[in-house]
Amino acid sequence: MPPAGDAPAGADFCTVTAGVAARPILDGAGARFDVETSFDEIAVCDAIIVPSFAPGPEGEVPDMANFGAAAAWLRRHHSRGALIGACGSGVFLLGEAGLLEGRRCTTSWWHHEDLKKRYPRADLAWGARLIDDRRVVTAAGPMSWIDVGLHVLKTLCGAEVGRLAADFTLGDMGPAKGPARAAGYSPVTVSGSADAFLTEAERIVRQADADFNAQDLARSLSTSERTLHRKLKIACGESPKSFIDRIRVETARTLLETSEKPVKELAASAGFIDEASFRRAFRRYAGMAPSAYRVWARAKAQDKAQIFSVKKSEIIPEILTTILDTCVNGITLTDPDLEDAPIVYVNKRFEEITGYEPREILGRNCRFLQGQDRDQEGLQRLRESIRSRQPVEVTLRNYRKDGVLFHNKLNITPLFDEQGTLIYFLGVQYDVTEQVRAEAEIGDLRARLKAIA
Ligand SMILES: Cc1cc2nc3c(=O)[nH]c(=O)nc-3n(C[C@H](O)[C@H](O)[C@H](O)COP(=O)(O)O)c2cc1C
Repeated sequence: MPPAGDAPAGADFCTVTAGVAARPILDGAGARFDVETSFDEIAVCDAIIVPSFAPGPEGEVPDMANFGAAAAWLRRHHSRGALIGACGSGVFLLGEAGLLEGRRCTTSWWHHEDLKKRYPRADLAWGARLIDDRRVVTAAGPMSWIDVGLHVLKTLCGAEVGRLAADFTLGDMGPAKGPARAAGYSPVTVSGSADAFLTEAERIVRQADADFNAQDLARSLSTSERTLHRKLKIACGESPKSFIDRIRVETARTLLETSEKPVKELAASAGFIDEASFRRAFRRYAGMAPSAYRVWARAKAQDKAQIFSVKKSEIIPEILTTILDTCVNGITLTDPDLEDAPIVYVNKRFEEITGYEPREILGRNCRFLQGQDRDQEGLQRLRESIRSRQPVEVTLRNYRKDGVLFHNKLNITPLFDEQGTLIYFLGVQYDVTEQVRAEAEIGDLRARLKAIA
């Protein structure tokens, strides 16, 4: 989207089609498609939506090495702040641009294996409908470009415009009741480049019952356990047990992101025999507790204001979120009802003080800011106050994302509802590094003066 100056009168922005060169192309069905401008002509834009690719003769996604100029162009605009979206095979170009590295993303189920293979550093979700991870929007299914468009509108123009556009476009605004449906899909055939053995093994595991084990998997694949072991080691470097657990955790992640199911029920749906083994496997593969993952995923996918609707939507309406973002101190909310009391809200200042992005903060206990520096004076008092639900103020040594020490004067207040039930802890963080340094200097000077005297 070019700057507003180029937009027709009355429009907030305008859209253009762009390509390596501004000349017509033939689309996948052989129809002529006009390309209005070339990449070079677009200096600034707010968002770029990448179309899907016409499949090759075997149904495969073309080799992305041929699209280096487009990939570089996407990378450049993303680094300048543009939102980049794609669905289905279009997501491959985002992979080529390096934008999927370490990012949660999705694509159509029949491209899942191929994408994973070509861009192994992408954090690819199975069966997720749409994911926005730090301005990279990916969606599943050839028609999901509508979802991507609506999401881009919502992000650029606000929730209300997004809602109106969705009403107008789709008529039905009901959210997709995705997980069960998505998990029910399984690739029967895949594009030529995917590993057929691995895909078939995944399909079987996704559809299997809870007591399904490596022996059953070997039997279902008409092979011996030894061969299964060998083939999996070559294809993905995993033992059959790890492979089964990982696939189940992937399913669980999607369920946590998209459903309200309690953890116990969800563990069973994902194929785990009991909750404890699910929790263990989940921690191993997702790096956090299931409940913390749910908070993190929601915070990532939703507007901040909606995070507060976890318990009481009326507590912190959207307008208050905006006000909190203008505060000069860090502000956090932690949820004592979730495992390990994770952070469910942070304001902008907290991000600035710590150098972390919300996705790296939400869902974790605040203690990660202490790093290895765990033997601190105020900590015991802090623990006792939290346990007895009392307000407390302590100054802690904390570490920014770049490892630099800062002194954090932390004020914690328990928040209760009308019935006296504890709902959140409110944390206010002041960066008092300068003050601590000045006091240390004064102390040092005093000591020197005393020595001279
Ligand atoms: C609302 C709230 C905000 C907190 N903020 C911080 C923080 O900014 N930095 C920090 O080191 N600890 C913070 N903590 C404290 C840790 O979360 C944790 O309670 C503390 O490290 C003691 O518990 P532990 O022994 O389990 O680590 C906060 C706690 C609460 C409840």
